[in-house]
Amino acid sequence: MKKLEKVIIPVAGLGTRMLPATKAIPKEMLPILNKPIIQYIVEEAIFAGFKEVILVTHSSKYSIENHFDKSFELEATLEKRVKRATLKEIRNISKLSISIQSIRQGEAKGLGHAILCAKTLIGKEPFAIVLPDMLISKKNGNAGDSLKEMRLCFEKHEISSVLLGKAKKADISKYGIAQIKNDSQLPGLGLIEKIIEKPSINKAPSNLYAAGRYVFTNDFFKYLSKVKPDKFNEIQLTDAIDNYIKDGKKVNAFSLKGDLFDCGDNAEYILANLEYAMKHPVIKNKIKNYLKTK
Ligand code: UTP
Repeated sequence: MKKLEKVIIPVAGLGTRMLPATKAIPKEMLPILNKPIIQYIVEEAIFAGFKEVILVTHSSKYSIENHFDKSFELEATLEKRVKRATLKEIRNISKLSISIQSIRQGEAKGLGHAILCAKTLIGKEPFAIVLPDMLISKKNGNAGDSLKEMRLCFEKHEISSVLLGKAKKADISKYGIAQIKNDSQLPGLGLIEKIIEKPSINKAPSNLYAAGRYVFTNDFFKYLSKVKPDKFNEIQLTDAIDNYIKDGKKVNAFSLKGDLFDCGDNAEYILANLEYAMKHPVIKNKIKNYLKTK
């Protein structure tokens, strides 16, 4: 059995769709209720059974690393003010059962390039990728159920996988869209035959989009390093996956369980906040009352 313990979380993008909010604050640090998005993502990785997070980061994003560090001054103040519950919550963030390392992507040359930057920290091991702006919410169970399923399947079969959700027609041209064929040997939806980055609706092979969770064998790096930059001079992860499949490597598709919010988009970021607020016993009622007045 091959262990899968490392997960790459790329946080080096510029977050231009959320400007000006993201001029000085990383989009991964924007809050959903009272927690930054990145904390939900790291908690998802812990739930899924990962042991090591590798953040691919940028000089402007030091607050993400700070968030997971111990804050002596804050803890001392909370202790003096006898704010026990808050103190416990703050202490838990720096005592997570996962190690967090980071490496820089000097220039935002695309998601594929960001993943390549983590190669030395991954070494010879397989790895997962979780995109920090794609937040999953589940009514029953944990947001990390899908990622856990992918990890366990890899440890059993040693086959790469991608999590797929169903896109609305209007959203198809925003994501990597996959074509799959059934495979009764493996859990999940089947094997991916091809995947295209941001196709027009006419060229999209289905409505199944990559939902920001991936698992790869180590040799995937070889395909990433050969991808040519696109017209915006960015290295696309989707192109490397397609080449990997064309070369005869298997990529299994899993079906997203729950709802996904692209928090890099203004409207979806607000919806994600509403989704989580509606799970909160007190805030839920405030929102319901507010909406009644509109
Ligand atoms: P996005 O394209 O959604 O993020 O990349 P972005 O580039 O930050 O946002 P916009 O499009 O300008 O609004 C998906 C993830 O990949 C990371 C981003 O931080 C985001 O979490 N990424 C993207 C990198 O780490 N490096 C890159 O060069 C590009």
